[in-house]
Amino acid sequence: MSRDWNRSSLATGLLAVRCLAVLCLVVLCLVGSVRAEPATLAGRPLPPGPLGEAIMLGAALVRDTSTHPLTKAYVGNRLDCTSCHLQNGTHHSAAPFVGVATAYPAWAPREGRVITLEDRILNCFMRSENGVRPPLGSRASVAIAAYITWLSDGQPIKQNPEHSLGPNATEPLTIDPTAADAARGAALYADRCAHCHGDDGWGDDDSPPVWGPDSYNNGAGLGRVAKLASWLKVAMPPDDETLTAREAIDLAAFVNSHERPVFRLEDHLPPAERLGEYNSADGE
Ligand code: HEC
Ligand code: HEC
Repeated sequence: MSRDWNRSSLATGLLAVRCLAVLCLVVLCLVGSVRAEPATLAGRPLPPGPLGEAIMLGAALVRDTSTHPLTKAYVGNRLDCTSCHLQNGTHHSAAPFVGVATAYPAWAPREGRVITLEDRILNCFMRSENGVRPPLGSRASVAIAAYITWLSDGQPIKQNPEHSLGPNATEPLTIDPTAADAARGAALYADRCAHCHGDDGWGDDDSPPVWGPDSYNNGAGLGRVAKLASWLKVAMPPDDETLTAREAIDLAAFVNSHERPVFRLEDHLPPAERLGEYNSADGE
């Protein structure tokens, strides 16, 4: 009798322990899901759901453009967006993405029409990435636009009627680019740049190529000596942006005196059925 009683009280006890364990698990799960921190990027919380996921994907594409499965087919060199838009577009001065979305749709003198942020992104694929323009509205294009727009979140819209450039775009130098001295630039390059980008400009696993077939083409912004000089002044060497305007312009003339892919628009457009809208007035 008492053994039976013992057995049944043991069974009841075990059942209670099991119930308690299940209850604890349920409570833990609930607390976990309520308390789950929102996903963050660069120390800032992301919006929940698919928008946050698209922004996260966009950041990955900007970082790994030349190797990511979604973008590598559209890239024709070894550069990623972050090779020039340093720190994934969050660098304070080197062509930052922060604020860019506030300027669009903007007037684009090169295309001779008003373009959207997505258009502008796709143009960098054709020129700076020496690749092919991805389709408008493609997953990659939308994700990158989502990321760049997120970096402008909270800033007032201020559309740009003069250039397709955001409010923090690199300041042009006042120095005359025709006064550049490429021979002086060669000496400076050997001294300040070659240990990363190589004597032959090909770079290595850590530093991207600055000329040759795997670099930007001559239709890219940096293909112009004045633009490259203003970018170098605020971007290179990394974390030691101490070049004078004179040094920057001489270096730019030297870097751009080397061979690089030649830009012909028709080589960079997708087949007509995948093109969507694209009208460059001057066909440049
Ligand atoms: C070889 C360097 C280089 C690479 C690689 C590059 N860009 Fe750019 N991009 C530039 C320069 C230079 C500008 C002009 C910005 C300035 O003057 O501040 C620019 C401008 C832009 C702008 C317009 C900025 C504004 O202020 O309106 C966007 C958007 C942009 N790039 C997106 C991209 C994306 C996305 C990628 C990768 C698919 C990319 N770029 C790759 C150099 C580059
Ligand atoms: C410590 C190594 C280092 C030094 C020194 C350095 N760079 Fe860079 N450079 C880089 C890296 C790394 C990037 C790409 C940025 C990234 O991926 O974060 C880059 C990007 C560039 C780019 C744009 C992308 C491309 O490959 O075209 C140019 C142009 C450039 N550097 C030129 C120069 C010049 C000119 C100097 C000398 C004043 C210089 N760099 C010094 C490491 C270096």
